[in-house]
Amino acid sequence: MAGAAPEGYKTLLDINCAGGRADLAFVELLETITTGAPAYQHRYGRGFWADLDAHPELRRSFDAQMNWRFRAQAPQIAGRFDWTRFSEILDVGGGDGTVLTAILATHSDLRGRVLDLAPTAAAASARFTAAGLDDRASAISGSFFDPLPGGADVYLLSDILHDWDDEHARRILARCRRAAAPDGTVVVIEPVLGRGAGTAFDLFMLMCFSGRERTVDEITRLAADCDLVLRHAEPVADGRTALEFGITPAV
Ligand SMILES: C[S@@+](CC[C@H](N)C(=O)[O-])C[C@H]1O[C@@H](n2cnc3c(N)ncnc32)[C@H](O)[C@@H]1O
Repeated sequence: MAGAAPEGYKTLLDINCAGGRADLAFVELLETITTGAPAYQHRYGRGFWADLDAHPELRRSFDAQMNWRFRAQAPQIAGRFDWTRFSEILDVGGGDGTVLTAILATHSDLRGRVLDLAPTAAAASARFTAAGLDDRASAISGSFFDPLPGGADVYLLSDILHDWDDEHARRILARCRRAAAPDGTVVVIEPVLGRGAGTAFDLFMLMCFSGRERTVDEITRLAADCDLVLRHAEPVADGRTALEFGITPAV
């Protein structure tokens, strides 16, 4: 390759960075196939997110990789989905704020918050300051397995559910459902099987996180278990679909 590789691209290939280190765990794939347990945990002695917690440089490289992979998609998500119906977004597991920054830069009436684990929330905060968005954007350090802040009219889950098995995915959706107002909205954006996600990604998610890629129907069924009803699903970025859910009244 001529010239220096972009920083995010290097994070994919360098075995000392989060992406390359995760790919290396494929050598333990037999463990996943025979026991169902993530190969990553078997190889490194702790789960992927705990491993990032233990190694701040790994977390920085993961955040950089996430930012790099969305260099084209974040503006697409900002422009192709109708965010103008909303006034405040909570980007749940919103990473270093790449997606929220693109949305707020495109829609000057919107406000938003990112909720993510502490070091990544700090990176999001720095990104908002650098983008001149301090008056409309902030970051909260926390876990999406704990109660989420109320007050947003849309709860966004971008590339979150496919990191988790069905039980954990339901717990995250249920947290959004409980935090949202009765007329609130939950938006799931991720690659879905048949529209952007295939066997290679599916296997990676299983090997790394016990996660999985799902069809629109599978995500809709998980959401229905949490009293969320699909309003519509539409392509929103290259290889990614947005599924918009409303709240089902409790019976
Ligand atoms: C695949 S990244 C997606 C980031 C961002 N939503 C995007 O689309 O670029 C998954 C995110 O989930 C966050 N995460 C993992 N476990 C979490 C937890 N228990 N609570 C909150 N965030 C968590 C990670 O720190 C990471 O930023």
